[in-house]
Amino acid sequence: MPQAQPHAPQRAVITGAAGFIGSHLAEALLAAGTTVIGVDRRDHYDPRAAANLARILDHPAYIHVTADLLTCAVEPLLLDADAVFHLAGIPGVRPSWGPEFSDYVGSNILATQRVMTAATTMRVPRLVVASSSSVYGPTDGTPSAENDPTRPASPYAVTKLAEEQLCLAHATRPGSPTTVVALRYFTVYGPRQRPDMFIHRALNAALAGTPLRLYGDGHQQRDFTYIDDVVTATIAAASPQAPGGVVNVGGGTGATLRDIIRSAQELSGRPIEIQAHTTRNGDVPVTRADLARARRLLGYRPTVDLTTGMSRQLAALTHVTAAISS
Ligand code: NAD
Ligand code: UGA
Repeated sequence: MPQAQPHAPQRAVITGAAGFIGSHLAEALLAAGTTVIGVDRRDHYDPRAAANLARILDHPAYIHVTADLLTCAVEPLLLDADAVFHLAGIPGVRPSWGPEFSDYVGSNILATQRVMTAATTMRVPRLVVASSSSVYGPTDGTPSAENDPTRPASPYAVTKLAEEQLCLAHATRPGSPTTVVALRYFTVYGPRQRPDMFIHRALNAALAGTPLRLYGDGHQQRDFTYIDDVVTATIAAASPQAPGGVVNVGGGTGATLRDIIRSAQELSGRPIEIQAHTTRNGDVPVTRADLARARRLLGYRPTVDLTTGMSRQLAALTHVTAAISS
């Protein structure tokens, strides 16, 4: 479970509530007593969204609105909200080079402009937006701090940088009623992780006995961050005490893809067959978060190590696999 939340808002809007991170955030806020309006263009008719929403759809304090933020009326959704958590977006790095790019621009930039404009009009005091470690681009492996230069190396990363800066630009207008905190999440994992992501694929390959596609030599390193820590930081960012700006949210320990494969094999007790593929465009060799600002401004400290987090993800996946085959 995420840590206790003394400053959870009374009424919050979560965009992207049917997604991996949004659904965990909704669960934690509901547990803290918040009324949650979840907005997503997916709902229980989509099997993956249904699985994400399973624990919250029937909660008396949860209202699900199925809507596309590119076209829906956003202002009525934000009525009386103390905070907006803007997590809706198109997340993957690799497909962003393809024809899907217009969807990235639509959801990550154009929809964000609509959400931010509505938040300002409705005088929502606080908006927390999901940004990404990918905005830093390739680094020499030294921890990235928020003031470091940004060199996004994929179309996805370009849209995420535009998204966070767009929100911050609105917030710095004189008289803006909305404080913005842009959280740069570093490769988030845990139960219900998106199936395109590496840890899910490695665990699934072990359980199902299917080959795992490895892009590059497997020495890529990520600052993998467990979902409960991400949720704790995200709720802390909505507290009235947290100043606006950009903040990293990382897991505090790095691991390579080879480390992940080894752990997946050890935890599951099953071998993984590797299929070698070339490195994908826009894939950076290493991400590493400098967490000094997160500690100072949000009191954030990651609490879940990779082995614990991966074993929880494996347990959740095993449960789902068993349910499907029974
Ligand atoms: P996800 O795909 O599971 O969730 C995103 C949700 O947004 C989906 O349910 C989708 O239907 C919804 N959505 C997209 N466009 C929409 C639109 N126009 N209108 C309404 N709903 C829309 O992704 P996730 O992994 O939970 O990521 C959530 C956010 O965090 C994204 O903005 C992503 O860029 C960011 N992020 C994720 C990670 C990670 O490791 N998962 C890391 C850094 C940043
Ligand atoms: C992740 C999320 O997918 C993005 O939404 C997020 O914005 C980003 O983190 C972030 O930190 O900001 P990524 O680090 O690419 O992006 O995470 P994965 O998709 O899990 O990929 C990790 C590594 O595994 C990459 O090097 C990728 O090329 C590799 N990979 C992935 C494989 O070798 N095989 C696969 O099947 C999938």
